[in-house]
Amino acid sequence: MSEKIFLKALQGEVLSKPPIWLMRQAGRYLSEYREVRADAGGFLNLCYTPELAAEVTLQPIRRFGFDASILFADILVVPDALGQDVRFETGEGPRLKPIASFEDFKALDQSKVDEKYNSISETVRLIRAGLPKEVTLIGFCGAPWTVATYMVAGQGTVNQAPARALAYSNPDLFQAIIDLLVESSVDYLSRQVEAGAEVLQIFDSWAGSLPQDQFERWVLQPTIKMVARLREKYPHIPIIGFPRGAGPLYEVYVKTVGVQAVSVDETMPLAWAKENLQPHVTVQGNLDALALIEGGEVLERSVAHILETLCDGPFVFNLGHGIQPHTPVAHVEKLIELVRA
Ligand code: CP3
Repeated sequence: MSEKIFLKALQGEVLSKPPIWLMRQAGRYLSEYREVRADAGGFLNLCYTPELAAEVTLQPIRRFGFDASILFADILVVPDALGQDVRFETGEGPRLKPIASFEDFKALDQSKVDEKYNSISETVRLIRAGLPKEVTLIGFCGAPWTVATYMVAGQGTVNQAPARALAYSNPDLFQAIIDLLVESSVDYLSRQVEAGAEVLQIFDSWAGSLPQDQFERWVLQPTIKMVARLREKYPHIPIIGFPRGAGPLYEVYVKTVGVQAVSVDETMPLAWAKENLQPHVTVQGNLDALALIEGGEVLERSVAHILETLCDGPFVFNLGHGIQPHTPVAHVEKLIELVRA
């Protein structure tokens, strides 16, 4: 058994004090991140410069002593490496050249995949070399469905309508995009493991926008394939799934995908998660990122409810979604104190 408490929790151990880390724990709410970011010459440049990406990964570990660190990169590194034009405009979020036809799809220039994935692997090596021995390193990628929503719409959307519409009107094209993402994401995560990632998380941020039959085809099937391939190659590497917003479909997800843990969003009723998910997998979550911004009594009440409900089973404390840029650092310090008390 490992000495690392995060790995113990993922192996199903019930701990008196749960491990804690936060999604998007490296980012704009930290002044030291903003400094590195300002000099990096663009967000993707930061992701592809191993020294800088490793530095911002380690910043929240130094400041807060989280039990896990997560590779600093982005889910849109995969379409970027596959040759789609990806840009991050300040204040606007990501912009991609949309894929609307088989011609667009076939035009992707995949000649830089090795170079781009290798620079991320180098980041992973540098992080491992700089991490305290009790801290676990998580590698990650976006799930095919969520990444495809950006590739098709060319940007973030409220209800993922462009991708959902394409999946109905041209399922062959949509399947081709998903199949490419399955292949490339397994390759990308494999390289992260070879470089030192000890756990993998698959972010399916828009899993909640699909009707059940579409969820089965575009969320479950591709993720089942990815997890099976990774499990075969790396049986000892735990995988965390995050089908955000999937509601009761979380249950079929944990029963079919083969993950060791599931990250639950803030809308998930915890009594339901305790009854339907925790008997099968480790549960991670699910503090509302807005309760963390609010702090005070709201934060204390929310944390107490999570701990009371989930601490009798395998559990990892986290947010229900990524930390927001205007989160006060003092509230993060308070949160860690509450969870470890
Ligand atoms: O958790 C971590 O600390 C690791 C780094 C990480 C980032 N993005 C860094 C980032 C991770 C795990 C992600 C995942 C990601 N990226 C997701 C899945 C999780 C989720 O939040 O739903 C998605 C959908 C993306 C796509 C993405 N990247 C968007 C929509 C945006 C713009 C919105 C925003 O917050 O600015 C990004 C940019 C991004 N990714 C930033 C960071 C720190 C902010 C960029 C900046 O510094 O200007």
